[in-house]
Amino acid sequence: MVREHRVRDGEGSLRQVVLRRASRSPGEPSARMQREERAGSVRVPGQRDSRAGVTRETVGWASGRHQVRVNPVLPVRRVVTESRFGRKGLFVTIDLQSPVGDLVKQRPSRSRVFEKLQIDYCCGGKLPLAEACERQGLDAQTVLRELRESDAQYLGDETPLVDADAMSLAELADHIEQTHHAYLKGELPRLDALTQKVLEVHGDADRRLQDVRRAFVALHQELAAHLRKEEQILFPMIRQLESAARVPAFHCGSVANPIRQMEYEHDSAGQALAILSGSTDGYQPPEWACHTYRAMLDGLKQLEGDLHQHIHKENNVLFPKAIRRESALAGEACRCGAS
Ligand SMILES: [Fe+2]
Ligand SMILES: [Fe+2]
Repeated sequence: MVREHRVRDGEGSLRQVVLRRASRSPGEPSARMQREERAGSVRVPGQRDSRAGVTRETVGWASGRHQVRVNPVLPVRRVVTESRFGRKGLFVTIDLQSPVGDLVKQRPSRSRVFEKLQIDYCCGGKLPLAEACERQGLDAQTVLRELRESDAQYLGDETPLVDADAMSLAELADHIEQTHHAYLKGELPRLDALTQKVLEVHGDADRRLQDVRRAFVALHQELAAHLRKEEQILFPMIRQLESAARVPAFHCGSVANPIRQMEYEHDSAGQALAILSGSTDGYQPPEWACHTYRAMLDGLKQLEGDLHQHIHKENNVLFPKAIRRESALAGEACRCGAS
């Protein structure tokens, strides 16, 4: 017997509770759990399991010989992607014509491959994979093989990278603010001091440090203004779109207008990152570099990786979703005859 309920957990999140009558004693693992344990993938009561992009938690055994499983309520298509053979996605063919941003949206772990090969999946996320490989002078078949290997390696282990595509508009806007914006607000002042100090001490020995400092200062100023615009203007509009029953009357007309400006600024940030990477041999310290110089390069490299993730989530997930939501609201208004 199976019964399903929707409840709120201690954190207020809506969860789906499945009550299934067990044919064994409370606490006794099922044959399936035993098989999974032998395969090294058992779901221990209380342990989180993020396979199939779903955070699933087995909370144990209820009284009265019922197995209790608590899942977040997510679209059915995400829940059914898991089968006894593992995620169906393992066997998904990677299409050379797929935009690289979409490939990362499907599997965030693929960003590791693109980072390594210096394929731009954030600002250049709309480019088909074949064209992106060509631009980097890479053999497309080799890149495909690396992506498949990455898929197999990180199968069911996406926990370090968030599945942005599974979030609602408001959840994703909150996540971006709380992780990427918060990171930048802490890290940019630190890197500002480091790039200034390293230039003062080693600028004569390494003339490229002038370019590093110039590019960083421009990036810092631009990002500070950019974050303010997203937090004070664009993200509130996006949250409003999610809860609205009809298209809100935005002062700027459509959500697409500030989005276009943000994408332009992302391109500009991408160009600054290219200068930073190009001026430092891909953040490789010279042999004589002191600890501060190395700390600066390490920080800049981390900044690049975080910005790639940040811009990917906005350009390839949040912004297209917000535009689709606005279009859907406009379509509903047309059908009901509202102006
Ligand atoms: Fe942002
Ligand atoms: Fe942004």
